[in-house]
Amino acid sequence: MILKGKTIAVCVTGGIAAYKACDIVSMLKKKGAEIHVVMTRNATNFVSPLTFETLSNNRVVIENFDPDRKWEVEHISLAKKCDLFLVAPCTANVVGKLAAGIADDFLTTTLMAATCPVVIAPAMNVNMYESAAYKNNEKILSERGYKFIEPECGLLACGDVGKGRLAQPDVIVKEVVDILLPKHDLLGKTVLVTLGSTREAIDPVRYITNSSSGKMGAALIRSAMNRGADVIAVSGFISVEIPSGARIMSVITTDEMCEAVLSQVKNADYIIMAAAPSDYKVKNFSKSKIKSKELSLELEKNVDIASEVGKIKGEKTLVIFAAETEDLVDNAKAKMLAKNADLVVANDVTRCGAGFNVDTNIVTLISRNDIEDCEKMDKSLLAEIILDKMQNVR
Ligand SMILES: Cc1cc2nc3c(=O)[nH]c(=O)nc-3n(C[C@H](O)[C@H](O)[C@H](O)COP(=O)(O)O)c2cc1C
Repeated sequence: MILKGKTIAVCVTGGIAAYKACDIVSMLKKKGAEIHVVMTRNATNFVSPLTFETLSNNRVVIENFDPDRKWEVEHISLAKKCDLFLVAPCTANVVGKLAAGIADDFLTTTLMAATCPVVIAPAMNVNMYESAAYKNNEKILSERGYKFIEPECGLLACGDVGKGRLAQPDVIVKEVVDILLPKHDLLGKTVLVTLGSTREAIDPVRYITNSSSGKMGAALIRSAMNRGADVIAVSGFISVEIPSGARIMSVITTDEMCEAVLSQVKNADYIIMAAAPSDYKVKNFSKSKIKSKELSLELEKNVDIASEVGKIKGEKTLVIFAAETEDLVDNAKAKMLAKNADLVVANDVTRCGAGFNVDTNIVTLISRNDIEDCEKMDKSLLAEIILDKMQNVR
């Protein structure tokens, strides 16, 4: 299910190879992608929309002016929600229309509105394929960033022999996967990521927490899924969305987070502790709302989740975060050794642009035999560096 969380529009045009799009839809669906099929009116002469609806589990869109359409402007909403558009097979006609900027049906209109990658798998008679008009249109679209998958040589449906037969469905699907998941290095691996803050109740309406937003954890989840990993997200309170496709376990307290993480250690290859669980909890939680004028709280230390994981992780890789305010490297390294972690992402939270609730971070990556300073960068880029590094620390 490496495409879990990805949405793909498969656009089918009126060529004889339209039936091969059934295989393509089915293969992409089996890989976990959400598929929306768009057809030209002419394509429906070759394959029934019902076939694609059954294979994709989604309504097939053909007309711009469908009386059943919802309130939203459908060609725009589809263009916005897709991670990739695949046109397979693509007729000479549609290549020409796209090159000329003609949007006279749903398929060409939504393609023109797409800002994600567009992959075109042309299929046509050899003389059409070699015509100056087609070649010129392909060149125009290639220069605009459209990705073409070369057709095959061989006996064509029309009886001619030459180049123009649609590329094999598995070649097309591999191309789509390569574009959507440029790095596959976590394919078949499970990554557990903790994120956000936990809450420790003082009374039924008050609690202790911290300002962790979950941004770093969400970036790690997105990058790990893009690299093909199955992701388990153990989430406290966050102000971002967890990318869809991750298996989410929601928790409130540090004890609950610990329990959820320990229950999943056996399933994970990599455990990344990007959450900021509350270190302390209130010793005598009040069952009724506290009304006294002055209030002293007695706190007790919470369980140290990373240490508990370190005790049982065996050969698995444990990545921890250390938010420090002084002696960054020494303190972080000591933490890593004490918790039996393999990599520590240390940040000095006193620096501007580092730590909680911001989009960037400035960190030092410390493993048993390496220290690497990273400049200030967006958390999504840092996530890529952490995922590269964690695979080489054991
Ligand atoms: C039986 C048959 C097969 C066709 N196969 C192709 C083809 O493989 N590639 C192509 O570019 N056009 C093919 N055409 C021509 C297209 O159907 C025609 O250009 C049409 O206008 C395309 O409409 P569309 O691009 O809106 O789907 C075929 C036409 C017929 C009748």
